[in-house]
Amino acid sequence: MRRYLIAGNWKMNTTRQDGVALAKSLVEGAAAATKKVDVLVCPPFPYLIPVLDAVKDSGIAVGAQNAYFEAPGAFTGEVALDMLVDLGCKSVILGHSERRHVLGETDAIINKKVIATRKKGLQAILCVGELLEERKAEKTEAVLDEQMAGGLKDVTAEMMADVVIAYEPVWAIGTGLTASPEQAESAHAHLRKWLETRYTPDVAKATRILYGGSVKANNAETLLSQANVDGALVGGASLKAADFLPIIEAGV
Ligand code: G3P
Repeated sequence: MRRYLIAGNWKMNTTRQDGVALAKSLVEGAAAATKKVDVLVCPPFPYLIPVLDAVKDSGIAVGAQNAYFEAPGAFTGEVALDMLVDLGCKSVILGHSERRHVLGETDAIINKKVIATRKKGLQAILCVGELLEERKAEKTEAVLDEQMAGGLKDVTAEMMADVVIAYEPVWAIGTGLTASPEQAESAHAHLRKWLETRYTPDVAKATRILYGGSVKANNAETLLSQANVDGALVGGASLKAADFLPIIEAGV
């Protein structure tokens, strides 16, 4: 059985003080839950160190929202995976729709990041998801297939041991428009089938597929009860302990 992963993507939000306070509230509030579900928080780069300090020895893991695929060197403004390993990060969110559609990241770039992340022994959370116009044009599954094939090109079955897929319908991100449980389950089942065909039934069975897109305290339990939903990647509702803790509890 796949262990739930509840991840908070803080995006480009909060302050050092508020981020540390949030982390400390989660340490206190999720102490019991972390024994049953994996909990991950992904602060902006500047706050990784203080948040790592705040959650130390708590069972809550810390991840980054991005990384560059090259070894440390002349890549102004970028953050190397070695640096994330050095800090004690455990995971990296890759291919988030905001990096695809706002910052222009391609499947090829995302793929290089997935491979480099896994080669450093970090968990790679690969985000995929369709735009509203693609869903309306009934292209959802074709878009997911393209993003999975592009993001996982040359990613071996062995590397998949710590790859997490996050299905985030772009039209549900930050809009309050959550995918229905049926829509989420349909997409997740399709992704699971894709993994079985590309890799093996065992890889498909073991790979966690998170849902992301307006996950809130009042819809988390229903979403998490779907057969192929193995957790949540939470944006807005991860920025306050009072909003995020009920979502963690829904996975217990
Ligand atoms: O990565 C998670 C994020 O894209 C979802 O955002 O605010 O809809 O929970 P939100």
